[in-house]
Amino acid sequence: MNTPALRTIRSSAEWVDYFHGNANQQKDIPWDEPVNLSAEERAVIIPSLRGWQLGETSDGAHLLAASHTYAAALGDSTFIEAARLFIAEEQRHGGNLGRFLDGAGVSRATSDWGDTLFRAVRYFVPRMEIWATPVVMVETHALIYYNAVRRATRSAVLRGICEQILSDEVAHIRFQCERLAMLHRGRSGWLHSLTMLFHRGFFAVITLAVWVGHRHALKAGGCRFSRFWALAWSKMQNAWALMNPKAYSWNDPAPGHAPQARETPAAA
Ligand SMILES: [Fe+2]
Ligand SMILES: [Fe+2]
Repeated sequence: MNTPALRTIRSSAEWVDYFHGNANQQKDIPWDEPVNLSAEERAVIIPSLRGWQLGETSDGAHLLAASHTYAAALGDSTFIEAARLFIAEEQRHGGNLGRFLDGAGVSRATSDWGDTLFRAVRYFVPRMEIWATPVVMVETHALIYYNAVRRATRSAVLRGICEQILSDEVAHIRFQCERLAMLHRGRSGWLHSLTMLFHRGFFAVITLAVWVGHRHALKAGGCRFSRFWALAWSKMQNAWALMNPKAYSWNDPAPGHAPQARETPAAA
């Protein structure tokens, strides 16, 4: 019987290369085309999209603060550059969505209860694990959300933006999951189980919050609650598999990936 091949963690230098390469391979968004939103799309999608646009527009100061502490503990200063490039990619999502809203004559949101809640969770403690855990969960929801918006709109511009975000988020999830695998590595069996129990409870809460806040847009894209719930858990299951330290080969860690560099669990 074949045992599944173990994954390797990408080094920070590899992530820096990836983000630079991805920035140079952006899909063509047909900005010259008219916005082309129906009255129904404006009523159903736009209110929700304003919230996501705000969420994608963080200045990244808290992540950078957490990155500096984390990178110092790890002895991996290149990670700070990888985090900076990750933030730039999220800001590009926010910039594209903002440009679309501007073109549609819709004001950008300055506050949103979902975004406020999400930031509060991340900002409460500037630690990499506390930061990466909610981010990977929301990025999992982003895969469902932007796919639903892509299906719901006839605007070629908005579809193009969604396609780029969907493509970028796959790598973002891997980026967070590798960090979490490193942070969870070496945790005792019961502590790891407790961490994952916390993840499941927290994910259920976030999933319900996303549904409450964005159900109209999701339904417009053919994603009713039962489908959304099933998709969310199945995609998060993939992320949990990707953050499982047992999925990785640790015999030959990349430079700077010292196994002793761990943080205390979010559940503690
Ligand atoms: Fe994003
Ligand atoms: Fe992302």
